Amino acid sequence: MANVVVVGSQWGDEGKGKIVDWLSERADIVVRFQGGHNAGHTLVIDGVSYKLSLLPSGVVRPGKMGVIGNGVVVDPHALIAEIGRLAAQGVAVSPDNLRIAENAALILSLHRDLDAFRENSNTGTRIGTTKRGIGPAYEDKVGRRAIRVMDLADLPALREKIERLLAHHNALRRGLGQEEILAETLYEELASVADKVLPFMDSVWQLLDRERRAGKRILFEGAQGALLDIDHGTYPFVTSSNTVAGQASTGSGVGPGAVGYVLGITKAYTTRVGEGPFPTEQTGEVGDFLGTRGHEFGTVTGRKRRCGWFDAVLVRQTIRTSGITGIALTKLDVLDGLEEIKICVGYKLDGREIDYLPASQAAQARVEPIYETLEGWKDTTAGARSWNDLPAQAVKYVRHVEELIGAPVALLSTSPERDDTILVQDPFQD
Ligand code: IMP
Repeated sequence: MANVVVVGSQWGDEGKGKIVDWLSERADIVVRFQGGHNAGHTLVIDGVSYKLSLLPSGVVRPGKMGVIGNGVVVDPHALIAEIGRLAAQGVAVSPDNLRIAENAALILSLHRDLDAFRENSNTGTRIGTTKRGIGPAYEDKVGRRAIRVMDLADLPALREKIERLLAHHNALRRGLGQEEILAETLYEELASVADKVLPFMDSVWQLLDRERRAGKRILFEGAQGALLDIDHGTYPFVTSSNTVAGQASTGSGVGPGAVGYVLGITKAYTTRVGEGPFPTEQTGEVGDFLGTRGHEFGTVTGRKRRCGWFDAVLVRQTIRTSGITGIALTKLDVLDGLEEIKICVGYKLDGREIDYLPASQAAQARVEPIYETLEGWKDTTAGARSWNDLPAQAVKYVRHVEELIGAPVALLSTSPERDDTILVQDPFQD
């Protein structure tokens, strides 16, 4: 039976929430495999809106299991707060519907401090992070000094790990002119959350192996987008995890063969939050139109998103780096009423034409988009539920996008309402 991975194929905010919600109804288990509470997914179920950052979408649906895999960095305070917010909305999160990998690394307050300090300082490259401590937590994981979920279960041994972690962080803090952190303070921070986090702890690779063999359907829920990938994205303006589909395997402990259909969520235009290259960015009238029409404000930080035309070069690239089987095209209705619509089909770099995004930061900043201009459509696409409901020019746009990126549209989303979706191919049935 096919499992499904959902990834963003641009810079995040492609509208994953609605699609993940739709797919989670068909899945038995929903797994987060990277990132942390820097993500922001809004789910609307039976008219009630739920905002999730760290928890997998499955937790709001009765009978589904949500899993936080080892590839996620877990802020215990954010976890407890999010569980509390859901409880206030009548959704009970317990070990019956949530498990957290014992080997997931924790985000601590010292990570948040460091993230904010770097972002607010005038030296170094400003990335425009969410200031949630994501990057510093992954640094400690790779540096082999992280505190992991399982360490909360062995408080006596925790003291030694704290000493090792603080030897690094206090040296940094001294250099940055920040006050040092006492081992006892950090110990108390961790001891105070242990009882609330430990009931959810599990061996996630074993759980998923068991469930998969029992024929359960697994949905791997990616956060951010492929262009924010630490290896394949617009480095250094990226997040600190792998966001491409291959991470579903390493970030949860299933083999690559267990990951079936890869669905790339793709917006009909492009947005990005934070700093970094954005070849098709529109700062004038078109950008304002897309931002206003598309309600392009961050769900986590409230920041205004940068907006621009659809970039087929970038999406074609992420189709390859993530092995995307089909895309879910979202927010087509935002383009309704435009006289003409541009699509970037290649770049000019130093007088040469290229069909990919170069890896170097300097070259990425220099590429100039080559556009094709398509005729727009007057009628609305909002709420369309079949191809026949769409204006002919809109169908042409979608078909041209498919051709340019080299992947089929499996789903076409025409409004935030879950039923306003044209289904071409069910990823779970593929
Ligand atoms: P960080 O993940 O907080 O370290 O931020 C690194 C970069 O990723 C910044 O440009 C953020 O704006 C961006 N980013 C992180 N999470 C998201 C997301 O969920 N959607 C869109 N951009 C994100």
